[in-house]
Amino acid sequence: MLPTHRPRRLRQSAPVRRLMRESHIVPSQLVLPLFVREGIAEAQPIGSMPGQSQHTIDSLRRTAAEAAEAGVGGVMLFGIPEVRDAVGSAADDPEGILNVATTAVQEEVGDALVVQTDLCLDEFTDHGHCGVLTPSGAVDNDATNERYAAMGLAQARAGSQLLGLSGMMDGQVQVVREALDAEGFHDTIILAYSAKYAGAFYGPFREAVDSQLKGDRRTYQMDPPNGREGVREALLDVEEGADIVMVKPGLPYLDVLAEVKQAVDVPVWAYQVSGEYAMVEAAAANGWIDRRATIMDSLTAFARAGADAVLTYWATEAAAWLREEL
Ligand code: PBG
Repeated sequence: MLPTHRPRRLRQSAPVRRLMRESHIVPSQLVLPLFVREGIAEAQPIGSMPGQSQHTIDSLRRTAAEAAEAGVGGVMLFGIPEVRDAVGSAADDPEGILNVATTAVQEEVGDALVVQTDLCLDEFTDHGHCGVLTPSGAVDNDATNERYAAMGLAQARAGSQLLGLSGMMDGQVQVVREALDAEGFHDTIILAYSAKYAGAFYGPFREAVDSQLKGDRRTYQMDPPNGREGVREALLDVEEGADIVMVKPGLPYLDVLAEVKQAVDVPVWAYQVSGEYAMVEAAAANGWIDRRATIMDSLTAFARAGADAVLTYWATEAAAWLREEL
């Protein structure tokens, strides 16, 4: 008996495989997360994320310019202030590090890529939570949303074109959208980190932003076993006015990404987070995997699952590889 069906026929050579490819990723779909730290004279390497740094405004500008040169679609900025307090005052201070850096980066590369900012209080509070606390120490949802509205306005005024709402407060998209619209920022784009799961994959990021958090974020970020709830969060955010929804972390949650993609009619993004980055870098440094091939496999997986764009610390490097392969 000869096989009737021979799927191997479509894998027989590199040109045939290239023509049969179902998913593609291009540099403009990659977004580079970048850290800027107040009060440092030189960029500081982040130990848990080899190849990544906390930047000065100058090194941030240069790194953003390299990303633009490589054809990357955007940069997502995170700020690390010198002084923190209970309500994260530096977050909506026009002179706060993230807002100052946003204006600088916008000036440097604003014509070439989309300058984006993380909208969350965790880098700015002295307790490290993503919001403000009640007297008993719980994260106060609605009071936090008021802070997010002020932070969103400060970021829009600083020149951010796209706000990444990563705090997981209920109703945050609606509150920030209304605040932006009331001030005439109709064109400021809202990316909702809709299905953002609590868990272990953000470990290296905590070092990257010098996180003050003790405890965890499990009363606001999602419980990892819940996939359908991720779809529910995405649908709520679309209803509240989100322009883009996101699933995060990346590879471990591609099932959720695929479900969300079916359920919504806005772009769906993924965040390949610090833990995913660190695992590949560590294995590659030990010679246990082929670094470039592994990174490209992982980016392909996002495209296959339906991601319209991916936040990845490898954005600039991967963009250069993708151009080579054209
Ligand atoms: C919150 C925020 C976090 C990350 C992005 N935005 C930290 C957290 O939720 O604990 C993590 C990103 C990463 O791990 O790469 N401002």
